[in-house]
Amino acid sequence: MLKEQIASLFPAHRRMRRCENDLLVNPRNISTWVELIELMKSKDKLSKRAATLVDSHEIKKTGHAVHVFSEMIANRAGKRLDALSRSPIERIEDALDEIVKWKTAIQCGHTHDVSKGYFTDAESVIEYQWDNIIYPIIKDFDFTEIVDLACGHGRNTEYLSRLSNNIHLVDINQSCIDACRDRFKLSYDTVRFHYHVTDGNHMKMIESGTITLVYSWDSMVHFDKLIVKDYLFEISRVLKNEGIAFLHHSNYGEFAPDSDWAKNAGTRSDMSARLMRDYAENAALEVVDQKLQGRAEGWGQDELDCVSILRKVG
Ligand SMILES: C[S@@+](CC[C@H](N)C(=O)[O-])C[C@H]1O[C@@H](n2cnc3c(N)ncnc32)[C@H](O)[C@@H]1O
Repeated sequence: MLKEQIASLFPAHRRMRRCENDLLVNPRNISTWVELIELMKSKDKLSKRAATLVDSHEIKKTGHAVHVFSEMIANRAGKRLDALSRSPIERIEDALDEIVKWKTAIQCGHTHDVSKGYFTDAESVIEYQWDNIIYPIIKDFDFTEIVDLACGHGRNTEYLSRLSNNIHLVDINQSCIDACRDRFKLSYDTVRFHYHVTDGNHMKMIESGTITLVYSWDSMVHFDKLIVKDYLFEISRVLKNEGIAFLHHSNYGEFAPDSDWAKNAGTRSDMSARLMRDYAENAALEVVDQKLQGRAEGWGQDELDCVSILRKVG
């Protein structure tokens, strides 16, 4: 008889105890966390929100992404899981959030690492998007020191470099940063470019209080709400007082909360305009404006996305 078949003969509470003991010894074993989450869900011991997350992200033995990326999830979530493993049953929903957060970030990075298609196709529409959608919104901002967050292959950076002398390019993929370095080098004319690879939720290589504009276009739309939440604290940290964030993000969470970006329309995440207002307040950022976007801007459906303008308040 297979080990798993034997295990399934034991009552759920004994299997939960075994997971708990195993996690004390090996807190970064994602399979054990997943088993515990699945057991607790089967016993109705998760909140409705957590149960929805488990289903939408397939946090279960047969879930593909959570297992394919388990090593990378363990690397990035490791410290937090170490702490949570001291009382795994009580803290199971925190562990679930942590696993879901990193699963989405790693999967989103992976999708854009190997795909050259997006970057080539997107290059052809940036002139229209910049002239008709982006520049009219950002034209009066202070461009002294900019972050292009999740810069991809630099199609936005190209336009930003006409306005600024100092640009930080941040992306989860080394391949994207390499493509930008090839495109821009370290400087041209009077513009200085600074290149940074992030784990997917921070900008710790950028000094606090130095940035006048954090800019993100067509990237955050895919970021899970928990990733956006982490980034907002970082955005608040790097911005100077009165500095501005221009963030193009998903509003799909309004229709499908706690859903998986990889399966949603336009691969939009569970972020929403409403959540952005809450997260901004927690991160000491003032919401200056929000504009829902949809078919008029070329996205597949109305109110799919949102552009939020946030200001750092002193
Ligand atoms: C759809 S592309 C858009 C790139 C660029 N903003 C543009 O408009 O061409 C999404 C980019 O986000 C990056 N990315 C995905 N998840 C990330 C994360 N958590 N943190 C930083 N970059 C991320 C990807 O590597 C990719 O370059």
